[in-house]
Amino acid sequence: MGSTSQVRHFLDIHQHDLASLRRMLDSAATMKRGAGAEKPLLGKTLALIFEKPSTRTRVSFEVGMRQLGGEVICLTGKEIQLGHGETIADTARVLSRYVDIIMLRTDHEAKLHEMAAAASVPVINGLTDSSHPVQIMADILTFEERKGSIKDAVVCWTGDANNVCESWIHAAVLFDFELRIACPEELSPPAATMDWVRQHNGRVSITRNVEVAAADADAIVTDTWVSMHNKDGQRRHNLLKPYQVNAHVMGLAKKDAIFMHCLPAHREEEVTSAVIDGPQSAVWDEAENRMHAQKGILTWCLDR
Ligand code: CP
Ligand code: NVA
Repeated sequence: MGSTSQVRHFLDIHQHDLASLRRMLDSAATMKRGAGAEKPLLGKTLALIFEKPSTRTRVSFEVGMRQLGGEVICLTGKEIQLGHGETIADTARVLSRYVDIIMLRTDHEAKLHEMAAAASVPVINGLTDSSHPVQIMADILTFEERKGSIKDAVVCWTGDANNVCESWIHAAVLFDFELRIACPEELSPPAATMDWVRQHNGRVSITRNVEVAAADADAIVTDTWVSMHNKDGQRRHNLLKPYQVNAHVMGLAKKDAIFMHCLPAHREEEVTSAVIDGPQSAVWDEAENRMHAQKGILTWCLDR
């Protein structure tokens, strides 16, 4: 069996149309309500490959796949031949003979695309240095559970315009909401991403002032100042201090605004404990929803 373009990969939010994304989220919400009574992926096996650490992605994919009736094999890059010179493409061809679907967490986005091009089974992006689309699917699910449709909502991202922010940008254009990004110039979204936003008439703005971005927002979102692939921790701490989410920033947003964070969080750095543990925090639902959203993605990829 060779590689085929009909395979349903989930590599990035902006590679899908809104109807497909909505189908994934609707089935996620339905399965969440139904507590996984059906086993649509009985007899299917998911391979999880991690070239970076993970708590949520690993456990939520494992438990979610089992709830769907499937099996899981979890591998780290180092323990398989991938980490010892076997190419991504060869790994993809071989795994496609054993398993029905692959999730990859890696560094360079190009590696994910190489795997998808060579695999004859669906490949899911479990985070790269540049994107984290499965996280943002869970985030949309969480936002809409709390606040209704995200269409025309105002979301404030404050901090490093990193891989998680990139997927929020893709989501803002596809789901048609306003995204205001407060970040230092050095840690702004890539120019190519903002060009893509303009080409698609997206409502994504960039400011250096978190107070401007947070004003009357429906959600305040942030992430760590130092991602797994970043080496310049001290410089980032200095640049990002003004972008912390604290009671003052939450107070600028709507009264019923929620606080979101993909986790892991660094308390008293990008967010204060008072906010993450406070009444507006949605972070634990957000973490739980990783599992439900991914069940929607897994069943969509396998067309069940
Ligand atoms: N949010 C998230 O992807 O967490 P992990 O790194 O623990 O998987
Ligand atoms: N931006 C973070 C997200 C972790 C889930 C990182 O890449 O480390």
